[in-house]
Amino acid sequence: MRKANVLMDRDFAIGHTDPRLFGAFVEHLGRCVYGGIYEPGHPTADEKGFRRDVLDLVRELGPTIMRYPGGNFVSGYNWEDGVGPVEERPTRLDLAWFTTEPNTFGTNEFMDWCKAAGVEPMMAVNLGTRAGDAARNLVEYCNHPGGTYWSDLRRKHGWEKPHDVKFWCLGNEMDGPWQMEYKTATQYGLVAKEAAKMMRWIDPSIELAACGSSARNMPTYGRWEDEVLEHTFEHADYISLHTYLNNYKGDTASFLASPDLMDNFIDEVVAIADGVAARRRSTKRIMLSFDEWNVWYRTRRKRQDRVKEGWPIAPPILEEIYTMEDALAFGGACISLLNHADRVKSACLAQLVNVIAPIMTETGGPAWRQTIFHPFAQMSKHGRGKVLRAQVESEGYDAEYYDPRGQQELSFPVSNVAYLKVAAVSDEKGGLSLFLLNRDVKQELEASIDARGFGALTVEEALELRHDDLQAINSKDAPERVSPAPLEGVVVDGGKVRVTLKPASWNVIRLAPR
Ligand code: AHR
Repeated sequence: MRKANVLMDRDFAIGHTDPRLFGAFVEHLGRCVYGGIYEPGHPTADEKGFRRDVLDLVRELGPTIMRYPGGNFVSGYNWEDGVGPVEERPTRLDLAWFTTEPNTFGTNEFMDWCKAAGVEPMMAVNLGTRAGDAARNLVEYCNHPGGTYWSDLRRKHGWEKPHDVKFWCLGNEMDGPWQMEYKTATQYGLVAKEAAKMMRWIDPSIELAACGSSARNMPTYGRWEDEVLEHTFEHADYISLHTYLNNYKGDTASFLASPDLMDNFIDEVVAIADGVAARRRSTKRIMLSFDEWNVWYRTRRKRQDRVKEGWPIAPPILEEIYTMEDALAFGGACISLLNHADRVKSACLAQLVNVIAPIMTETGGPAWRQTIFHPFAQMSKHGRGKVLRAQVESEGYDAEYYDPRGQQELSFPVSNVAYLKVAAVSDEKGGLSLFLLNRDVKQELEASIDARGFGALTVEEALELRHDDLQAINSKDAPERVSPAPLEGVVVDGGKVRVTLKPASWNVIRLAPR
């Protein structure tokens, strides 16, 4: 059996988790909107066409903020197509996913859905085929109370009160050649800066996220962030990061090591952002918006998984079926995000329903939880509070993570990957939540945790997520196959906790003051 020691102190904190750290993402992509959150005629649909069974699962999942309407989709989107009387809205070709967009769901429907789901909206503007003018009009449409062309149009459309959207993304993945009208860092920086200026002139209370690199393996990574922030530093509050973890090679050890590269990615972007601040002798700190993250690879590389011929409406694309193994890597990513609570102030699990998603639906049929649903729901429920600096002493292993870019085979060495990955979050009542990932797929791991400054603790709840078969999945017919189960044998003595973690397991222990 492996052994690991973890030491933390109630007073030694990384930072507080911002509620926006627990966000997700709805894009006009495949069956995320149509057949996902919105399906008029479905047996559970409400009078607005929102699936109530999906809403129930969304509430259980616990996202706090929802990014919309894309993604790649937003870079060709005319937001005006999605407002006003539905029968007058145009049907358009979407060049992001080669589908037909009926526009029966748009900005106002999304705002209503956010209210029903109890989440904050996060809007992205099109800085691909469009620019500052369309962006500032959208802010006026959404946030201005009335008495102007765009705000009165909203009122005429039936939404009297402003939507008051606070968080805005300045485009999406503008460094990527797959994006409609992608740009160099100079081109994007200038467009983003001008859009940001006008958007904020309309509503000074909004917060703005500039696009960072669409992945850490992009050829322009690093230089992109530096130049974009050079242009937008005075106007942006956040820089974005995107990561999709993969196991193309069937190399479980490297896959489970890959969240550590998210740690590096975050640290590097923080360094670049602070470098831009340093050049200005500025005390302003640009925060990070990790506004797309997940596991995604099975439905990523082959065109037939991404594109269905004939320009269909809402085809089943990117419907990744998640395994137990994916849930472990995903849980590692949750830990990485929590452990950067000081700078990652917003993050969005990409996406919410059907499309690389924790929730799956059958059109006309039921909805169920994928394996990755569980670590996210637990993180959102128990990850609110002060993240403690947990010092982990654990044996490690070396891995080589393969992360191709286009036709280029790239791999990244990760050395001394700790078998135990940990995040610890304390709450105001003196409780402590431990998130523990045992990355050893063969051996149990005995973790001895010394939680200093807490006094005597007692176990409130302890759960593990594991399965003998790492390829186990949940499905319509077996929706509970991979589900949390009680984690037995947690021994607490004062502030010391000892527990044996099963091989390849994700574990959450909730401790309360005795
Ligand atoms: O989430 C799926 C896609 O991944 C998004 O549309 C895009 O931003 C990213 O490349």
